Amino acid sequence: MELKGVILAGGLGKRLFPLTKVTNKHLLPIYCKPMIYYPIQTLVDAGIKDILIVTGGRHAGEFLRLLGNGAEFGLKHINYTYQEGEGGIAEGLSLAEHFADNNRIAVILGDNIIEKGIKKYVDEFMAQSGGARILIKKVKDPQRFGVVEFKGRKIVSIDEKPKRPKSDYAVTGIYMYDAAAFNIIKTLKPSRRGELEITDVNNAYLKRGELEYSVLDGWWTDSGTFDSLLRANNLVAKKQKTENRKRNSPVL
Ligand code: G1P
Repeated sequence: MELKGVILAGGLGKRLFPLTKVTNKHLLPIYCKPMIYYPIQTLVDAGIKDILIVTGGRHAGEFLRLLGNGAEFGLKHINYTYQEGEGGIAEGLSLAEHFADNNRIAVILGDNIIEKGIKKYVDEFMAQSGGARILIKKVKDPQRFGVVEFKGRKIVSIDEKPKRPKSDYAVTGIYMYDAAAFNIIKTLKPSRRGELEITDVNNAYLKRGELEYSVLDGWWTDSGTFDSLLRANNLVAKKQKTENRKRNSPVL
């Protein structure tokens, strides 16, 4: 069984307006590269070579101009699809059903950037008989995210952007699913913000007793707000400079 990669890079990036007035959020710079480069590299580093980018909005064509067939990442080909409107993350994911073709998928939100890799979590997921695996991370501002509730070491619920979070563990935008995800999405109803929520997909797996998790190692950030975009830039700059120093080739 193959593991395919899906990057969700649609939406209008309204929280970053006017930065996103004439471009897609995922094309904005994070230090020395466009944002979308980071999730692609995360998947490639985990050994995933068959990748679909789900994009949308008025600037979708720019992804092709920027990435082409992914030669910069050592890829032979990148798949693209287009999400109309603002139906949410789970709706964007539903467009990957044909691409997934009954294989398992690793999904990453296009604005999620991490310090280290996901290879070990991918291996853990592939060792599962099926179901889903999410990556969680302790944060200072859980209200901004999907938040897990624990009983002992077991996740018992996930709330999307709760006013009163039941833990300080956020669900990161990295999800691994078997093919059942697509049937689950077909049963979802839009949330109060009018979107099909990825948290509802995860809660459906939880109800079936098929949701596993790992705590992500290293830093993690999204970059969909002014503050998180700045944070992402600073974290990546620091990491890049440390790596450059190690290689003894300072950044100009
Ligand atoms: C989305 C998810 C949320 C998750 C977050 C991670 O939020 O809905 O559960 O914690 O991504 O980046 P959004 O960025 O759409 O507000």
